[in-house]
Amino acid sequence: MSQLFSPFKLGPVTLPNRIVVAPMCQYSAVDGTPGDWHVQHWMQLGMSGAGLVMVEATGVEPIGRISHACLGIYSDENETAIARILAAARKVSPDGTKYGIQIAHAGRKGSTHVPWKGGKWLASGENPWQTAAPSAVPFSDGGPPPAALDAAGMKRVTDAFCQAAKRALRAGFEVIELHSAHGYLLHEFVSPLSNLRTDTYGGTPENRLRFPMEVARAVREVVPRTAVLGARITGTDWADGGLTADDAVAHAAALKAAGFDYVCVTGGGVVPNMKIALGPGYQVPFAAKVRAETGIATRAVGLIAEPAQAEEIIASGKADMVALARAFLDDPRWPWHAAEKLGASVPVPPQYARAAAAQWPGAAMVRPKPA
Ligand SMILES: Cc1cc2nc3c(=O)[nH]c(=O)nc-3n(C[C@H](O)[C@H](O)[C@H](O)COP(=O)(O)O)c2cc1C
Repeated sequence: MSQLFSPFKLGPVTLPNRIVVAPMCQYSAVDGTPGDWHVQHWMQLGMSGAGLVMVEATGVEPIGRISHACLGIYSDENETAIARILAAARKVSPDGTKYGIQIAHAGRKGSTHVPWKGGKWLASGENPWQTAAPSAVPFSDGGPPPAALDAAGMKRVTDAFCQAAKRALRAGFEVIELHSAHGYLLHEFVSPLSNLRTDTYGGTPENRLRFPMEVARAVREVVPRTAVLGARITGTDWADGGLTADDAVAHAAALKAAGFDYVCVTGGGVVPNMKIALGPGYQVPFAAKVRAETGIATRAVGLIAEPAQAEEIIASGKADMVALARAFLDDPRWPWHAAEKLGASVPVPPQYARAAAAQWPGAAMVRPKPA
Protein backbone atom coordinates (compact mmCIF):
# COMPACT_ATOMS: atom_id res chain seq x y z
CA MET A 1 0.00 0.00 0.00
CA SER A 2 1.32 3.41 -0.89
CA GLN A 3 2.68 5.38 2.05
CA LEU A 4 2.69 8.57 -0.03
CA PHE A 5 -1.07 8.30 -0.29
CA SER A 6 -1.61 7.42 3.38
CA PRO A 7 -3.23 10.04 5.63
CA PHE A 8 -1.05 12.05 7.99
CA LYS A 9 -2.04 13.68 11.25
CA LEU A 10 -0.39 17.09 11.13
CA GLY A 11 -0.98 18.73 14.49
CA PRO A 12 -4.73 19.11 14.91
CA VAL A 13 -5.68 18.23 11.32
CA THR A 14 -5.44 15.15 9.15
CA LEU A 15 -4.04 15.45 5.65
CA PRO A 16 -5.53 12.93 3.22
CA ASN A 17 -2.05 12.17 1.88
CA ARG A 18 1.58 13.29 2.17
CA ILE A 19 1.72 15.34 -1.03
CA VAL A 20 2.11 19.10 -0.57
CA VAL A 21 2.05 21.81 -3.22
CA ALA A 22 5.09 23.90 -2.27
CA PRO A 23 4.59 27.64 -1.87
CA MET A 24 5.33 29.42 -5.13
CA CYS A 25 5.38 33.18 -5.71
CA GLN A 26 3.23 34.14 -8.66
CA TYR A 27 4.16 37.83 -8.92
CA SER A 28 0.63 38.50 -10.11
CA ALA A 29 -0.98 40.57 -7.36
CA VAL A 30 -1.88 44.26 -7.36
CA ASP A 31 -1.15 46.12 -4.11
CA GLY A 32 -0.82 42.66 -2.54
CA THR A 33 -4.31 41.62 -3.66
CA PRO A 34 -4.76 38.40 -5.66
CA GLY A 35 -6.81 38.40 -8.86
CA ASP A 36 -7.89 36.19 -11.74
CA TRP A 37 -4.49 34.53 -12.09
CA HIS A 38 -4.75 33.29 -8.53
CA VAL A 39 -8.30 32.07 -9.14
CA GLN A 40 -7.14 29.62 -11.79
CA HIS A 41 -3.90 28.81 -9.96
CA TRP A 42 -5.46 27.92 -6.61
CA MET A 43 -8.40 26.14 -8.25
CA GLN A 44 -6.31 23.87 -10.43
CA LEU A 45 -3.88 23.07 -7.61
CA GLY A 46 -6.78 22.49 -5.20
CA MET A 47 -8.29 20.06 -7.67
CA SER A 48 -5.01 18.15 -7.89
CA GLY A 49 -5.68 15.84 -4.97
CA ALA A 50 -2.63 17.06 -3.02
CA GLY A 51 -3.26 16.75 0.69
CA LEU A 52 -2.07 20.28 1.38
CA VAL A 53 -1.88 23.24 -0.95
CA MET A 54 0.46 25.98 0.24
CA VAL A 55 -0.13 29.49 -1.03
CA GLU A 56 2.95 31.50 -1.95
CA ALA A 57 5.14 33.72 0.24
CA THR A 58 2.72 36.45 1.27
CA GLY A 59 4.05 39.75 2.58
CA VAL A 60 3.06 40.69 6.11
CA GLU A 61 3.64 44.37 5.31
CA PRO A 62 4.14 46.22 2.01
CA ILE A 63 7.94 46.36 2.42
CA GLY A 64 7.86 42.65 3.27
CA ARG A 65 7.12 41.83 -0.36
CA ILE A 66 9.79 40.93 -2.90
CA SER A 67 8.27 42.96 -5.72
CA HIS A 68 5.30 45.29 -6.27
CA ALA A 69 3.46 42.27 -7.74
CA CYS A 70 3.85 39.99 -4.73
CA LEU A 71 0.89 38.77 -2.73
CA GLY A 72 0.29 40.50 0.61
CA ILE A 73 -1.92 40.00 3.61
CA TYR A 74 -1.73 43.37 5.31
CA SER A 75 -4.95 45.11 4.21
CA ASP A 76 -8.66 44.41 4.29
CA GLU A 77 -8.65 44.32 0.47
CA ASN A 78 -5.95 41.63 0.50
CA GLU A 79 -7.83 39.58 3.08
CA THR A 80 -11.22 39.83 1.36
CA ALA A 81 -9.86 38.74 -2.02
CA ILE A 82 -7.82 35.91 -0.51
CA ALA A 83 -10.89 34.63 1.36
CA ARG A 84 -13.02 34.76 -1.79
CA ILE A 85 -10.50 32.87 -3.94
CA LEU A 86 -9.80 30.32 -1.24
CA ALA A 87 -13.53 29.61 -0.98
CA ALA A 88 -13.69 29.14 -4.75
CA ALA A 89 -10.73 26.72 -4.69
CA ARG A 90 -12.35 24.68 -1.94
CA LYS A 91 -15.43 24.19 -4.11
CA VAL A 92 -13.42 22.19 -6.65
CA SER A 93 -11.02 20.39 -4.32
CA PRO A 94 -11.58 16.91 -2.92
CA ASP A 95 -13.03 16.74 0.59
CA GLY A 96 -10.25 16.83 3.12
CA THR A 97 -7.85 18.97 1.09
CA LYS A 98 -6.15 21.45 3.39
CA TYR A 99 -4.94 24.92 2.49
CA GLY A 100 -2.05 26.80 3.99
CA ILE A 101 -0.42 30.16 3.48
CA GLN A 102 3.20 31.11 3.89
CA ILE A 103 3.52 34.44 5.68
CA ALA A 104 6.75 36.18 4.84
CA HIS A 105 8.97 39.22 5.03
CA ALA A 106 11.44 39.66 2.19
CA GLY A 107 13.95 41.65 4.25
CA ARG A 108 16.94 42.82 2.23
CA LYS A 109 15.81 40.84 -0.83
CA GLY A 110 12.76 43.08 -1.36
CA SER A 111 12.24 45.99 -3.73
CA THR A 112 12.96 44.15 -6.96
CA HIS A 113 11.39 43.65 -10.36
CA VAL A 114 9.54 40.40 -10.99
CA PRO A 115 11.82 37.61 -12.25
CA TRP A 116 10.55 37.63 -15.82
CA LYS A 117 11.41 41.34 -16.04
CA GLY A 118 14.94 40.62 -14.91
CA GLY A 119 14.47 40.53 -11.14
CA LYS A 120 16.81 43.50 -10.69
CA TRP A 121 16.60 46.03 -7.87
CA LEU A 122 13.98 48.73 -8.41
CA ALA A 123 15.62 51.97 -9.52
CA SER A 124 14.62 55.42 -8.35
CA GLY A 125 11.50 56.33 -10.29
CA GLU A 126 10.26 52.73 -10.04
CA ASN A 127 8.82 53.22 -6.58
CA PRO A 128 11.57 51.38 -4.69
CA TRP A 129 11.43 51.04 -0.94
CA GLN A 130 13.90 51.07 1.91
CA THR A 131 14.42 47.41 2.76
CA ALA A 132 15.00 46.10 6.28
CA ALA A 133 17.42 43.46 7.57
CA PRO A 134 19.35 42.49 10.70
CA SER A 135 22.39 44.40 9.42
CA ALA A 136 22.85 47.18 6.87
CA VAL A 137 24.61 44.88 4.42
CA PRO A 138 23.21 44.48 0.88
CA PHE A 139 22.41 41.03 -0.51
CA SER A 140 24.78 41.52 -3.42
CA ASP A 141 27.56 43.95 -4.29
CA GLY A 142 26.05 47.18 -5.51
CA GLY A 143 22.62 46.26 -4.17
CA PRO A 144 20.63 48.75 -2.09
CA PRO A 145 21.77 48.69 1.53
CA PRO A 146 18.96 47.67 3.88
CA ALA A 147 18.30 49.52 7.14
CA ALA A 148 19.26 47.50 10.21
CA LEU A 149 16.12 46.88 12.24
CA ASP A 150 16.03 48.58 15.63
CA ALA A 151 13.82 47.54 18.54
CA ALA A 152 10.82 49.48 17.20
CA GLY A 153 11.28 47.96 13.76
CA MET A 154 11.45 44.46 15.19
CA LYS A 155 8.27 45.08 17.15
CA ARG A 156 6.54 46.38 14.02
CA VAL A 157 7.56 43.26 12.07
CA THR A 158 6.50 40.92 14.88
CA ASP A 159 3.11 42.62 15.06
CA ALA A 160 2.78 42.41 11.28
CA PHE A 161 3.38 38.64 11.36
CA CYS A 162 0.73 38.28 14.09
CA GLN A 163 -1.80 40.40 12.21
CA ALA A 164 -1.10 38.46 9.03
CA ALA A 165 -1.68 35.15 10.82
CA LYS A 166 -4.99 36.43 12.18
CA ARG A 167 -6.06 37.63 8.74
CA ALA A 168 -5.09 34.26 7.24
CA LEU A 169 -7.17 32.38 9.78
CA ARG A 170 -10.15 34.67 9.14
CA ALA A 171 -9.70 34.09 5.40
CA GLY A 172 -10.09 30.36 6.01
CA PHE A 173 -6.64 28.74 5.98
CA GLU A 174 -6.06 25.85 8.35
CA VAL A 175 -2.26 25.92 8.01
CA ILE A 176 0.00 28.91 8.67
CA GLU A 177 3.68 28.72 7.73
CA LEU A 178 6.40 31.20 8.71
CA HIS A 179 8.91 31.75 5.94
CA SER A 180 12.19 31.48 7.78
CA ALA A 181 14.31 30.46 4.78
CA HIS A 182 15.56 31.39 1.29
CA GLY A 183 17.41 34.48 2.47
CA TYR A 184 14.37 36.47 3.55
CA LEU A 185 14.16 38.47 6.76
CA LEU A 186 13.85 35.72 9.40
CA HIS A 187 16.55 33.63 7.73
CA GLU A 188 18.73 36.75 7.51
CA PHE A 189 18.68 36.87 11.30
CA VAL A 190 19.53 33.16 11.65
CA SER A 191 22.46 33.09 9.23
CA PRO A 192 25.90 34.38 10.25
CA LEU A 193 26.39 35.42 6.60
CA SER A 194 23.73 38.14 6.84
CA ASN A 195 23.50 38.83 10.56
CA LEU A 196 26.51 40.87 11.67
CA ARG A 197 24.89 42.38 14.74
CA THR A 198 26.81 42.82 17.96
CA ASP A 199 23.76 43.12 20.25
CA THR A 200 21.78 40.23 21.76
CA TYR A 201 20.31 39.46 18.31
CA GLY A 202 23.65 38.59 16.73
CA GLY A 203 26.79 36.58 17.32
CA THR A 204 26.09 33.19 18.84
CA PRO A 205 23.62 30.74 17.25
CA GLU A 206 21.24 31.33 20.17
CA ASN A 207 21.38 35.09 19.66
CA ARG A 208 20.80 34.78 15.91
CA LEU A 209 17.72 32.64 16.54
CA ARG A 210 16.37 35.12 19.09
CA PHE A 211 14.34 37.37 16.78
CA PRO A 212 12.92 34.58 14.56
CA MET A 213 11.90 32.74 17.73
CA GLU A 214 10.32 35.88 19.22
CA VAL A 215 8.24 36.12 16.05
CA ALA A 216 7.48 32.39 16.18
CA ARG A 217 6.28 32.52 19.79
CA ALA A 218 4.22 35.65 19.16
CA VAL A 219 2.51 34.03 16.18
CA ARG A 220 1.93 30.83 18.18
CA GLU A 221 0.05 32.97 20.73
CA VAL A 222 -2.43 34.20 18.12
CA VAL A 223 -2.88 30.94 16.22
CA PRO A 224 -5.25 28.66 18.12
CA ARG A 225 -4.32 25.02 18.60
CA THR A 226 -7.10 24.06 16.21
CA ALA A 227 -4.97 25.39 13.35
CA VAL A 228 -1.61 24.08 12.16
CA LEU A 229 1.49 26.22 12.56
CA GLY A 230 4.77 25.41 10.85
CA ALA A 231 7.86 27.03 9.40
CA ARG A 232 10.20 26.73 6.47
CA ILE A 233 13.77 26.56 7.73
CA THR A 234 17.25 26.27 6.30
CA GLY A 235 18.97 22.89 6.09
CA THR A 236 22.11 24.51 4.69
CA ASP A 237 23.16 27.92 3.36
CA TRP A 238 25.15 26.12 0.64
CA ALA A 239 27.98 28.56 1.41
CA ASP A 240 31.21 28.52 3.40
CA GLY A 241 30.71 29.78 6.94
CA GLY A 242 26.94 29.54 6.62
CA LEU A 243 24.26 27.50 8.33
CA THR A 244 24.53 23.72 8.38
CA ALA A 245 22.17 20.85 9.14
CA ASP A 246 23.14 21.07 12.83
CA ASP A 247 21.75 24.62 12.88
CA ALA A 248 18.57 23.31 11.27
CA VAL A 249 18.23 20.75 14.07
CA ALA A 250 18.61 23.49 16.70
CA HIS A 251 16.08 25.71 14.89
CA ALA A 252 13.56 22.89 14.53
CA ALA A 253 13.98 21.88 18.17
CA ALA A 254 13.31 25.46 19.28
CA LEU A 255 10.22 25.63 17.09
CA LYS A 256 8.98 22.31 18.43
CA ALA A 257 9.45 23.56 21.99
CA ALA A 258 7.48 26.69 21.04
CA GLY A 259 4.57 24.50 19.97
CA PHE A 260 5.10 24.39 16.21
CA ASP A 261 3.55 21.45 14.40
CA TYR A 262 6.03 20.99 11.56
CA VAL A 263 9.03 22.26 9.66
CA CYS A 264 9.83 22.18 5.97
CA VAL A 265 13.57 21.85 5.48
CA THR A 266 14.87 23.73 2.46
CA GLY A 267 18.12 25.58 1.79
CA GLY A 268 20.03 28.44 0.25
CA GLY A 269 19.13 31.94 -0.81
CA VAL A 270 20.93 34.07 1.77
CA VAL A 271 23.94 34.92 -0.41
CA PRO A 272 24.30 35.01 -4.19
CA ASN A 273 27.44 32.88 -4.40
CA MET A 274 26.20 29.44 -3.38
CA LYS A 275 27.69 26.04 -4.11
CA ILE A 276 24.64 23.82 -4.38
CA ALA A 277 25.10 20.06 -4.66
CA LEU A 278 22.14 19.64 -6.99
CA GLY A 279 20.61 16.21 -7.59
CA PRO A 280 17.32 14.37 -7.16
CA GLY A 281 16.06 14.90 -3.62
CA TYR A 282 19.22 16.89 -2.82
CA GLN A 283 17.77 18.43 0.35
CA VAL A 284 16.11 15.29 1.69
CA PRO A 285 19.10 14.32 3.92
CA PHE A 286 18.66 17.59 5.85
CA ALA A 287 14.98 16.84 6.43
CA ALA A 288 15.80 13.28 7.48
CA LYS A 289 18.35 14.50 10.02
CA VAL A 290 15.95 17.09 11.46
CA ARG A 291 13.18 14.50 11.71
CA ALA A 292 15.42 11.88 13.33
CA GLU A 293 16.98 14.26 15.84
CA THR A 294 13.97 16.34 16.85
CA GLY A 295 10.92 14.19 16.16
CA ILE A 296 8.99 17.16 14.75
CA ALA A 297 6.79 16.44 11.72
CA THR A 298 9.01 17.17 8.73
CA ARG A 299 8.49 18.06 5.10
CA ALA A 300 11.16 17.51 2.47
CA VAL A 301 11.53 19.58 -0.69
CA GLY A 302 13.81 20.02 -3.66
CA LEU A 303 13.91 18.12 -6.94
CA ILE A 304 11.30 15.60 -5.90
CA ALA A 305 9.28 14.82 -9.00
CA GLU A 306 9.02 11.07 -9.51
CA PRO A 307 6.21 9.14 -7.78
CA ALA A 308 8.51 6.27 -6.80
CA GLN A 309 11.04 8.76 -5.42
CA ALA A 310 8.37 10.50 -3.33
CA GLU A 311 7.04 7.14 -2.14
CA GLU A 312 10.51 6.04 -1.02
CA ILE A 313 11.10 9.25 0.97
CA ILE A 314 7.91 8.69 2.95
CA ALA A 315 8.12 4.89 3.23
CA SER A 316 11.71 4.98 4.51
CA GLY A 317 10.86 7.58 7.15
CA LYS A 318 13.08 10.33 5.78
CA ALA A 319 10.16 12.77 5.93
CA ASP A 320 6.48 12.84 6.81
CA MET A 321 5.46 14.94 3.81
CA VAL A 322 6.99 15.87 0.47
CA ALA A 323 6.54 19.27 -1.15
CA LEU A 324 6.75 19.61 -4.92
CA ALA A 325 7.02 22.95 -6.66
CA ARG A 326 8.04 22.84 -10.31
CA ALA A 327 6.59 19.37 -10.82
CA PHE A 328 3.18 20.87 -10.02
CA LEU A 329 3.64 23.70 -12.50
CA ASP A 330 4.57 21.13 -15.10
CA ASP A 331 1.74 18.75 -14.23
CA PRO A 332 -1.01 20.17 -11.99
CA ARG A 333 -2.59 16.69 -11.97
CA TRP A 334 0.60 15.15 -10.54
CA PRO A 335 -1.20 13.26 -7.74
CA TRP A 336 -3.61 11.65 -10.25
CA HIS A 337 -0.72 10.31 -12.26
CA ALA A 338 1.30 9.32 -9.19
CA ALA A 339 -1.69 7.43 -7.80
CA GLU A 340 -2.05 5.55 -11.08
CA LYS A 341 1.61 4.62 -10.96
CA LEU A 342 1.63 3.59 -7.29
CA GLY A 343 -1.67 1.70 -7.35
CA ALA A 344 -3.39 4.25 -5.11
CA SER A 345 -6.33 6.52 -5.75
CA VAL A 346 -7.24 10.17 -5.32
CA PRO A 347 -10.63 11.74 -5.82
CA VAL A 348 -11.08 13.25 -9.27
CA PRO A 349 -13.91 15.71 -9.88
CA PRO A 350 -16.76 13.89 -11.63
CA GLN A 351 -16.62 16.37 -14.50
CA TYR A 352 -13.10 15.13 -15.30
CA ALA A 353 -13.44 11.50 -14.22
CA ARG A 354 -13.54 10.20 -17.77
CA ALA A 355 -9.88 11.08 -18.15
CA ALA A 356 -9.03 8.46 -15.50
CA ALA A 357 -7.36 5.41 -17.02
CA ALA A 358 -10.12 3.08 -15.83
CA GLN A 359 -12.76 5.15 -17.62
CA TRP A 360 -10.76 5.81 -20.75
CA PRO A 361 -10.73 2.63 -22.83
CA GLY A 362 -7.89 2.70 -25.26
CA ALA A 363 -5.95 5.30 -23.27
CA ALA A 364 -2.88 3.09 -23.33
CA MET A 365 -2.94 3.14 -27.14
CA VAL A 366 -2.72 6.90 -27.39
CA ARG A 367 -1.17 8.02 -24.17
CA PRO A 368 2.15 6.83 -22.78
CA LYS A 369 2.09 5.43 -19.25
CA PRO A 370 2.54 8.34 -16.82
CA ALA A 371 6.17 8.85 -16.00
C1 LIG B 1 7.94 29.76 -9.37
C2 LIG B 1 8.49 29.46 -8.01
C3 LIG B 1 8.16 30.27 -6.95
C4 LIG B 1 8.61 29.98 -5.66
N1 LIG B 1 8.18 30.72 -4.60
C5 LIG B 1 8.44 30.31 -3.34
C6 LIG B 1 7.79 30.89 -2.23
O1 LIG B 1 6.91 31.74 -2.38
N2 LIG B 1 8.14 30.47 -1.00
C7 LIG B 1 9.07 29.48 -0.80
O2 LIG B 1 9.36 29.12 0.34
N3 LIG B 1 9.66 28.89 -1.85
C8 LIG B 1 9.35 29.26 -3.10
N4 LIG B 1 9.89 28.59 -4.16
C9 LIG B 1 10.74 27.42 -3.90
C10 LIG B 1 9.91 26.16 -3.93
O3 LIG B 1 8.90 26.16 -2.93
C11 LIG B 1 10.79 24.91 -3.76
O4 LIG B 1 11.37 24.94 -2.47
C12 LIG B 1 11.87 24.81 -4.82
O5 LIG B 1 11.37 25.16 -6.10
C13 LIG B 1 12.44 23.39 -4.89
O6 LIG B 1 11.41 22.47 -5.15
P1 LIG B 1 11.17 21.81 -6.62
O7 LIG B 1 12.44 21.17 -7.03
O8 LIG B 1 10.05 20.82 -6.37
O9 LIG B 1 10.76 22.91 -7.56
C14 LIG B 1 9.48 28.88 -5.45
C15 LIG B 1 9.85 28.10 -6.55
C16 LIG B 1 9.34 28.36 -7.80
C17 LIG B 1 9.72 27.44 -8.94
